[in-house]
Amino acid sequence: MPLVTRRRLLQGGLALSALGLGLPRLPALAAEPRILTAGPGEALLLEAGQPKTRTWLYDGVSPGPVIRARQGEEVFVRLKNTLPQPTTIHWHGIRIDNAMDGVANLTQVPVPPGETFDYRFTVPDAGTFWYHPHNRSWEQVARGLYGLLIVEEKEGWGGANQDIAIVADDWRLGDDGQLDEASFAHMMDWSHAGRLGNTLTLNGQDQLDVPVTSGERLRLRLCNTCNARILELRIEHPGIWIVAEDGQPVPPRELADGYVALSPGERVDLIIDMTLAPGSSAAITEVSADQRLVAGQLTYHPTAMVQHFKPLTVPPPALPTNPLSAELDLANAQAVELLLEGGAMGNMAQATYRGETLSIRDLVSKGQVWALNGTAGMTDQPLFSAPRGQTVVVQMRNDTTWPHAMHFHGHHFKVMERNGQPADSEAWKDTVLLERLESAKIAFVADNPGKWMIHCHMLEHQAAGMATWFKVEA
Ligand code: C2O
Ligand code: CU
Repeated sequence: MPLVTRRRLLQGGLALSALGLGLPRLPALAAEPRILTAGPGEALLLEAGQPKTRTWLYDGVSPGPVIRARQGEEVFVRLKNTLPQPTTIHWHGIRIDNAMDGVANLTQVPVPPGETFDYRFTVPDAGTFWYHPHNRSWEQVARGLYGLLIVEEKEGWGGANQDIAIVADDWRLGDDGQLDEASFAHMMDWSHAGRLGNTLTLNGQDQLDVPVTSGERLRLRLCNTCNARILELRIEHPGIWIVAEDGQPVPPRELADGYVALSPGERVDLIIDMTLAPGSSAAITEVSADQRLVAGQLTYHPTAMVQHFKPLTVPPPALPTNPLSAELDLANAQAVELLLEGGAMGNMAQATYRGETLSIRDLVSKGQVWALNGTAGMTDQPLFSAPRGQTVVVQMRNDTTWPHAMHFHGHHFKVMERNGQPADSEAWKDTVLLERLESAKIAFVADNPGKWMIHCHMLEHQAAGMATWFKVEA
């Protein structure tokens, strides 16, 4: 489904603060919980003058409030559920205490309507993370429940004049501007790419205006919260460097053409030097559907210039490293195979579901159409267990005709090989995209005890079977 092309909002009418850009921010204080209410609300996702959309929101805003914490500190959030169904919060990418991971029916009982749950955990890594429900995520995330969790570097990081976060989402709206609810559980979407939207927003807005000043250095955090769309964003500005992926610092490298692809759940941190003249502007576009969809822009102040970072060093300095686990011990690694099967136009004839072997026809009648290692959906027993500290190498093979964004909970991993070739990335990822028929070998140290999910972050694929879990012994 292509994203609709929209007219650009006329400039000048919007007075957004340079820091917040419409995202309320709040400090996470450990002494008292920060109450975060999940409930029904409304958001203006279309152009000014268009109807508001009935959504589900955290604290009534889309995206939810940015939760900011300092690395090593405690985050204490009390989820208050005023939705008509049970929910949880998962803290995506945080190497967290397992009891706080928020996975319904694996790490906690989902929170019923009218009740609360306290999430209290420390954040070991600085970087860009996010939060979202992990119960019926395919519906709850699509309805608008998500927000950013930004962990600031322990000693602070003075490398940029401005720190801006952008959450990108696609919504499937009808002509009336309301969510297309009838299509939530469509097997057609579930067995194909997942539920793609037709309306792109950045920070919940039809056109996002990012005020910048000539001469400054910007840190720009991007997060894809789409249910299923692999976003291809282009910031039409010279000199953009990627400095972190999935919250973890990487050696700075320049983006070719300002282009960055992000699959659902992935984040990047970028450094952009505002080298254009005062009064310039640069579009932020989405180009996945062979179209240039303008979603926002960097707008230079008409006259001001700042001098702080002159001369701007190129490449920009790397972010401080995070205290990621011990080195990979590849010589003594535990080997795991993970076969991704199923979906439309796939080869899968049957799979096990809740202990029964079912034909693809019978699976579909139960809303299941994907499998990992021949099993659809969650099982009582883990896919594998690892002693704490064990290096695990997972050889993943995508035997489907669809891409999948495979996400591991509680750990970050390194991509070692793609299609049998050494991978050139230094990144520690929590989500990795496997294109159709692609294979990838990843490695991580299983150093976080508990029960951790592995699933596709195309949320319909997850719901339709592409989900499993592993155990790390205490
Ligand atoms: Cu962001 Cu298990 O998910
Ligand atoms: Cu998938």
